[in-house]
Amino acid sequence: MKKVISLGIMVTLFVGVTNAQQSKKISDNLFGVFFEDISYSADGGLYAELLQNRSFEYSANDKKGWNPLTGWEYTNKGFGYGTVSVETAMPISTNNRHYIELKVEEEGKEGVGLINFGYGGIAIKAGDKYDFSCFIRQISNKSIPIKVILQSKKGEILGESTFNTKSDKWEKYTAVITATKTYDSAQFVLLAKEKSKLALDAISLFPQNTFKNRPNGLRTDLATLIADLHPKFMRFPGGCLVHGDGLGNMYRWKNTIGPIENRLEQRNIWNYHQTAGLGFFEYFQFCEDMGAQPLPILPAAVSCQNSGETWIVGGTGQRALPMAEMQAYIQDVLDLIEYANGLPTTVWGAKRAEAGHPAPFNLKYVGVGNEDKMTPEFKERFEMIYDAVKKTHPEITVVGTVGPAPIGEDFEKGWELANKLSVPIVDEHYYEEPKWFLNNTHRYDNYDRTHSKVYIGEYASRGNSLYNALSEAVFMTSIERNGDVVQMASYAPLLAKLSNISWHPDMIFFSNTKVVPSVNYYVQQLFSTNQGDLYFPNVLVTADTNDSTVGLSCVKDSKTGDQILKIANAGSNAKIVTANLKKLGVSKSALAQKQSLSGKPKEENTIADTSKVIPIVSEVTINNNFTFESPAYSLTIFRIKGTTSIK
Ligand code: AHR
Repeated sequence: MKKVISLGIMVTLFVGVTNAQQSKKISDNLFGVFFEDISYSADGGLYAELLQNRSFEYSANDKKGWNPLTGWEYTNKGFGYGTVSVETAMPISTNNRHYIELKVEEEGKEGVGLINFGYGGIAIKAGDKYDFSCFIRQISNKSIPIKVILQSKKGEILGESTFNTKSDKWEKYTAVITATKTYDSAQFVLLAKEKSKLALDAISLFPQNTFKNRPNGLRTDLATLIADLHPKFMRFPGGCLVHGDGLGNMYRWKNTIGPIENRLEQRNIWNYHQTAGLGFFEYFQFCEDMGAQPLPILPAAVSCQNSGETWIVGGTGQRALPMAEMQAYIQDVLDLIEYANGLPTTVWGAKRAEAGHPAPFNLKYVGVGNEDKMTPEFKERFEMIYDAVKKTHPEITVVGTVGPAPIGEDFEKGWELANKLSVPIVDEHYYEEPKWFLNNTHRYDNYDRTHSKVYIGEYASRGNSLYNALSEAVFMTSIERNGDVVQMASYAPLLAKLSNISWHPDMIFFSNTKVVPSVNYYVQQLFSTNQGDLYFPNVLVTADTNDSTVGLSCVKDSKTGDQILKIANAGSNAKIVTANLKKLGVSKSALAQKQSLSGKPKEENTIADTSKVIPIVSEVTINNNFTFESPAYSLTIFRIKGTTSIK
């Protein structure tokens, strides 16, 4: 399907020719992150909300056995008595239909109310402050004292606060609880202290300490680890989550903005629930806070081909939005661009400003579709959306999709469509064995440079051993070499909660209290913090040019002038690599930062065995024609400071 590029074209690709060495311009946006709400990445993960099922919207559709009171328990421990019921008659918002009525017949010694167990417990830190908020409507029409408590499993009080209700309309109440002790699995308790009847909804508890102190924000430790990758872009909100399990489950960005109590929660395709608390505003904000380009992926108006798990019986579960709904759907796509970039005087720009961000988010890319089945229904809808975005927003680059695998029918047909429509970039996905990555380092060498560019939106080598990570590293050197075709690449998935893993492997594991970066994380970090925008061929050389276990790359970051050498060795023997830096203008003796990663190839990095394989950083002196013995199973990066290199 791909045509070999003619030599004539190839020569024009090498720009920045110096007297000594040719360089090729490559993407300066190459390595970013893929975020999907999978394996409890958002709710119970990155999104810092501590209470589970805060709006009583869980249901058996999310997961067998779940209901609006999942995660909650009625409490009358001081010998009071009353009842709790789930109601829908007078909700805060039609998007958020369920709430509870708490009836206190007799308050007893302590009051009557509800306990929430968080996502497998609530982790609190002594001295930290927690923002409680809740909507209450007095049904018994009198002010009621409410107590909110953090307690241990045995009932020890670890922090508390009180307030009085004041309205027979839905009203938001807030309080701050200071934790008196560090405790991994606290419980949250809300108690009404007098005979009463109250409606309650959107009961929330957030640490004040979120990433960059954002309200409705992100867990600091996880967000910091992601930000430490210095990703050039962040794709969100998935993955399969985007196109969803059937049309009713498609991700609709408009349902995820505005006050949390008005957002439309729904089933998560990965067999749990999404509160949409981490919605499109929060994603854009996170991108800005990390200095990453936002890359939202929107459904192409069709659902996942695995909807209803029809893949088990070999069918296609893809469903397409009726044509009668397409204009409205296309408007939603255009409105997203206005939401991100429009002036605060525009309808959707005003909503962004209301949320606290009058300045635009500078959206440049919009992805349409996620590894969809290339049916006529998909193609027709993709083309309609693509044409509308191109026409209304020529400044936006649309990212198309070419199926779930590196080859196959959807891949071929996806590329045909992309070529027919001249889609600027298409999204390739591959989850393959390490050997595949080592054997496919020439995949992009012969891609036609006149066709669509490539975003490798999801890839991973099916494991978290050093060997896996190094096979990815070897492949990543070939991504850099082909950085004129491959514009972006992101390992997937990014996060997985250890107690709720839906997909393997992942880049970062976590529990409520710990974060465990895998060795794959460190490979990603070494590449993403050492990106360049110019590629220099033939600077690094090994004796055996056919050795598929070795990956070499030399790039330059024009902003700093730094010259960066990467040597990835996924083989069991040391390899001799010669670096000819003379032609790059490096002086005879130059200082370089050396970053290296090496260790036992097959050890998995889990929470039980936090990897000892972490990058070691040192300063070294190199000369401009040096020979380096790359250890077996290692990645080494030399970063030569700009002052020593040519422009
Ligand atoms: O990354 C996990 C899943 O793999 C994504 O949701 C999907 O796009 C792919 O099949």
